Amino acid sequence: MNYLQIKQGQYEFCFGGKTMRLEFLSNRCFRLYQRTPNRRYYAIESEPISEADVCQSESGLEFGYSQIKVAFDEENRLSVSYFGQESFRAEPYKVSHETENLSLMAMEGHHASRDLNGKGGIRIYADLPIYGMGERSGPLDKRGYDYVNWNTDDPSAHVDTFKSLYQSMPFFIAFRGKTSFGVFLDNTSKSHFDFNKSKRDSILIDFEDGVADYYFFFGSMPEVIQEFTRLTGRNPLVPYWALGAQQCRWSYHDKAELDAVIEGYAVANIPLSAVYLDIDYMDAYKDFTVDASKFPHIQDYLAELRKKDIYVVPIIDAGVKAEEGYFLYDEGVKNGYFSTLDGEIYHNEVWPGDSVFPAFLDEPVQQWWANHIQHMLELGFAGIWNDMNEPASFKGPLPMDVMMGKDMPHRVAHNIYGHHMVKAGAMGFEKAGKRLFQLTRAGYAGTCRYSATWAGDNQSIYDHLRLMLPQLMNMSLSGQAYIGVDIGGFGGDTTPELLTKWAIAAILNPLYRNHSAMGTLPQEPYTLNGDYLLGYRKAVMTRYEILPTLYDELYFAESEGSVPLRPLIYNFPDDSNVLNENTEMMLGESLLIAPSLFPGETKRVCYFPDDFVQFGTWKHYAKGHHIIDVGLTDTPLFLRENGMVVLASAGNDKAKKNDVLRVFLGKNGSSARHFEDDGDGLGYRNGQYNLYHLRNEGGVLRISYLHHGMQSEYQKVILVHLDGKETTMDFVDLILPA
Ligand code: NOJ
Repeated sequence: MNYLQIKQGQYEFCFGGKTMRLEFLSNRCFRLYQRTPNRRYYAIESEPISEADVCQSESGLEFGYSQIKVAFDEENRLSVSYFGQESFRAEPYKVSHETENLSLMAMEGHHASRDLNGKGGIRIYADLPIYGMGERSGPLDKRGYDYVNWNTDDPSAHVDTFKSLYQSMPFFIAFRGKTSFGVFLDNTSKSHFDFNKSKRDSILIDFEDGVADYYFFFGSMPEVIQEFTRLTGRNPLVPYWALGAQQCRWSYHDKAELDAVIEGYAVANIPLSAVYLDIDYMDAYKDFTVDASKFPHIQDYLAELRKKDIYVVPIIDAGVKAEEGYFLYDEGVKNGYFSTLDGEIYHNEVWPGDSVFPAFLDEPVQQWWANHIQHMLELGFAGIWNDMNEPASFKGPLPMDVMMGKDMPHRVAHNIYGHHMVKAGAMGFEKAGKRLFQLTRAGYAGTCRYSATWAGDNQSIYDHLRLMLPQLMNMSLSGQAYIGVDIGGFGGDTTPELLTKWAIAAILNPLYRNHSAMGTLPQEPYTLNGDYLLGYRKAVMTRYEILPTLYDELYFAESEGSVPLRPLIYNFPDDSNVLNENTEMMLGESLLIAPSLFPGETKRVCYFPDDFVQFGTWKHYAKGHHIIDVGLTDTPLFLRENGMVVLASAGNDKAKKNDVLRVFLGKNGSSARHFEDDGDGLGYRNGQYNLYHLRNEGGVLRISYLHHGMQSEYQKVILVHLDGKETTMDFVDLILPA
């Protein structure tokens, strides 16, 4: 087989009837893609290319770099090995659907399970546990399921068989311990991933438009994710206040209502860090307006709340009200900033009625939007909540030919529309010189570098409490660090028991936000009573104790590509008990939660993959299966005895750093790293932070600086021993000399 070397490390040859290129991007990643002129990239941040060894014969071609070997033969087969062992075989593949007439079935509202008009993809021969694919319904291990990448706003209850939700993440990990592999298809059109469903021995990938562009990653699961996020980017560290409890509702209509919520929390003695303003704060649902009759003197009001350590995040929708005289509409029309169809501005309907859609894929549109975001931040809003950016539309889906930017028709721009909306938002934060805090509903691979994600409109049902765990764990394994779901469920009426159980189950979630829909019963925790209220409060207070570890994990996610909220298999890759563990989660290496997920349940089975102690009761659980208490006021949170956990003081009710460092010491030899900065701003990017190494040496805590970039705030250290007993020391006395 022949090949051409295009430049250093880049090789071109014919495979599957197409002109393909191959590049090694590191000793853990290669890229195989179809050559196309003028292709634009959205997911990828950087691509260092490495030189390969090439072996050419009559019947094949073999490329090697470090421990990866990729061999192509004339029969259009591809074989990949890693560390001398075959990783997988693959071949070009095209989806072919059954052609029976489905219209009869459709009359009763049924849908055929496949709607992809495949253009040609790949068949990978592998039968392994599958993780990743971002925000999905269904279990942790995706084997046996198929998914469509097409951002979809479907408010009906998300069940296991859903193919698509709000985000598209064409990335998965095929798990095989240290020699796992990951695949990312960087194609923004509608694509279909079938994991050993139609063909039991294979993973099938197909797409509708654009070209094949695959990245293959190798190594352990953490290494695969690290490599994927090195290419596509990572969630920047959120401000410390964003780790606290957040309250939202569609909507708090005016100042009096919002004040009552803040007061309700205070009276119930539940800490609160942030509140959200849903669409009704606006004047007639017009983005970047505040209805002054409902929220007079918004700037003063936001400043007043900030003094009480309450941060306010407003919603911004993708659809812009089409109304002459509305500044945003007029500016957009004048400058040609809205999406078009056949050369005319395209209209559909969203909350404000007749609406138009910014052509977010264009740079000037992003700059324009960023200026408006900057203005919101300068008013004193602390973050931006980006919604309806699939984009959602009430008068049928947008036609495929709507142009969402120059040369960007909806058919290829759909999955990256929300991505570019939050890119524009992030530019606004940059202009304002503020640390990024955005939430988005829609997204694509790499969107996390601009925005965090909440998983859209779940419902107040136990199925969705159960869904939360695998959903968030797979989002994490897809490189999304700061994530959450609406606590208590968004749609439908929650019950006191469901709400309390949800608050407990979410203790380790990076985003801790209670939110519910219009027309549902009040869901604020202070509406609870008795054990429900006690349980909710206890859950929030427990969360406020683990904030330092959560912040550390989010820092490491950004700086090193590790995963904060994780399935047990991430930490225990050799333990086959946890390959598809859907009811327990871990934060970092040493915190494990095993919540109740059923009504009426007060005890459950928990599998401990190592020795743990329970938070608060300090009861010891040896590795193995145990029955644990999961009543309303129990805390099914556990600390690993072979680990160390950095905590805030018991009773801490502020999402703020203070001068006490509290450390669960674990067994002799346990260690941890801990990050300290001022909790907001961008100073840490310029080295203004401390990174500590903490080690238990024979029951004594030793602290050393891995990075010393600011004056430490710590004065006291509280040591928490395995039995829960605490001793207090002076911070300076534990620091090892440099
Ligand atoms: C849909 C969002 O998913 C939901 O969270 C929000 O409350 C409504 N839109 C209204 O803005």
